[in-house]
Amino acid sequence: MKFESQRVSWWFFATCMLLFSLQIVYGFIMAFAHAGHDALHAVIPFHAARATHTNLLVMWLLCGFMGAAYYIIPEEADRELHSVPLAKLQLGALVATGVTAIIGFHFNWWEGRKFLEIPRPLDFLVVVDVLMFIFNIGMTVKNGRRFTTTSLVLFFGLLSAALLYLPGMIPTTNQTHDSYWRWWVVHLWVEGVWELIMGGILSYLLIKLTGIDREVIEKWLYVIVGFTFLSGILGTGHHYYFIGTPNYWKWVGGIFGAMEPIAFLGMAIYGVTMARKGGRAHPNRTALQWTVGCSIMSFVGAGFLGFAHTLPSVNLYTHGTLVTAMHGHMAFWGAYAMIVLAIMSFALPNLTGRRLHDAPSAQLGFWASNIGMIAMTLAFGVAGVTQVYLERRVGMDFLAVQRELEVHFIGLILAASLFTLGVCCFVWNFIRHGWPVGEVLAAGASDVTPEEAARTP
Ligand code: HEM
Ligand code: HEM
Ligand SMILES: [Fe+2]
Repeated sequence: MKFESQRVSWWFFATCMLLFSLQIVYGFIMAFAHAGHDALHAVIPFHAARATHTNLLVMWLLCGFMGAAYYIIPEEADRELHSVPLAKLQLGALVATGVTAIIGFHFNWWEGRKFLEIPRPLDFLVVVDVLMFIFNIGMTVKNGRRFTTTSLVLFFGLLSAALLYLPGMIPTTNQTHDSYWRWWVVHLWVEGVWELIMGGILSYLLIKLTGIDREVIEKWLYVIVGFTFLSGILGTGHHYYFIGTPNYWKWVGGIFGAMEPIAFLGMAIYGVTMARKGGRAHPNRTALQWTVGCSIMSFVGAGFLGFAHTLPSVNLYTHGTLVTAMHGHMAFWGAYAMIVLAIMSFALPNLTGRRLHDAPSAQLGFWASNIGMIAMTLAFGVAGVTQVYLERRVGMDFLAVQRELEVHFIGLILAASLFTLGVCCFVWNFIRHGWPVGEVLAAGASDVTPEEAARTP
């Protein structure tokens, strides 16, 4: 850690751990409901559990991105953060808004639009909060002693994510228009600007962990950003097939949607190649595992499983089924959850001054959560394909099909238990690191101790 103000990121990461744990609780509530045991229905009906599960996910990922920015930007800009109190205020306000929204879902105060359920008055608070965050890191970049590609890609990713929240707030009473704008937020976030955020964090971690020249790593970052925009913007069309928009979207969405996996494939090749080429291996192997793992799992979840249902002829059958949930889990996990856990694994020993990154619990955390998530994806996939077949080929009634699927959710619960074991280990390791009291290094000093450098091959 080079600057005192980087410490503030710890509070964002700690919030991630809390919200992530709560997200998993709601995942289990839904999994049991799907398996035919909906004991909590009167208090937490399925729609409230679902909205809470997905909104907690988005909230903890945003907290993770903010924490990552507060850790990375001062170091890249080579100066202290513009304002630490503002960062703390902004975190408190974000959590207060999020908690209000989640309590509201349980009392039917919501908008009913998947992923954008937060009621309108709270949307404005979210916008104000995110503007405070953008101002804080924007001032740090602007007054910094240097501008790096990594920090600029990260900054513009975060700024665009903030701006793209606005189309979801355009008032309309037309269902087609509403869906049309909703996808500007949902799709252009995960298949557009969030990829910039991921690319920025990935490039920072690869520079730190592999010791490869910044020029080489940042050059490839440009190529990936180029592919993301080329395919991702018009790729929005793969959500416009059946919502009442003109027919040409079938072609546009089909062609550009099919090109989108190239950006994720690029990211996977990038991560793996840089890690293999790296001359100076950093002692924090766990952080490198999360980093390279993220580049591979995002390709599988987003690229490969996204491609599986992006063509209109396939999507006609799979739209809105558990096939979507299969893809949604692995994509969100591989790309965005893993990149947040990667930067946390890297930053934590520096923030706290305790180097517990080699601990067995850190390794178990990585493997159990990833194997668990692969098994969960398989369970959702089998349930999804069965659902598509029975409901849309055989023509069985929706609820009759749901009963047939119950057995697959026993498999999901088992897989999710392994996943949860992994997450518990990660959280335990986070707690063991303790408070953010790590020392601030002198300018130019390395974050690798001489003993560690001697131990690494
Ligand atoms: C213990 C772990 C988890 C369990 C048991 C679980 C279970 C579920 C269930 C049953 C659904 C509802 C599917 C439906 O609509 O019928 C769901 C939705 C969702 N979950 Fe999870 N989940 C877990 C963890 C996660 C994690 C870690 C992530 C992200 C990294 C995630 C992301 C999502 C997303 C994005 C959706 C919405 C999918 C869609 O739009 O179709 N979940 N989850
Ligand atoms: C990390 C990147 C990605 C994430 C986090 C992600 C996540 C999701 C989620 C949560 C949904 C459900 C959204 C909703 O119904 O509101 C979804 C839908 C979809 N995704 Fe992705 N996705 C990613 C990348 C991709 C890519 C690269 C492709 C195509 C190659 C793709 C193709 C699709 C399609 C076609 C749907 C619509 C499914 C339906 O009709 O029900 N996704 N994605
Ligand atoms: Fe999409």
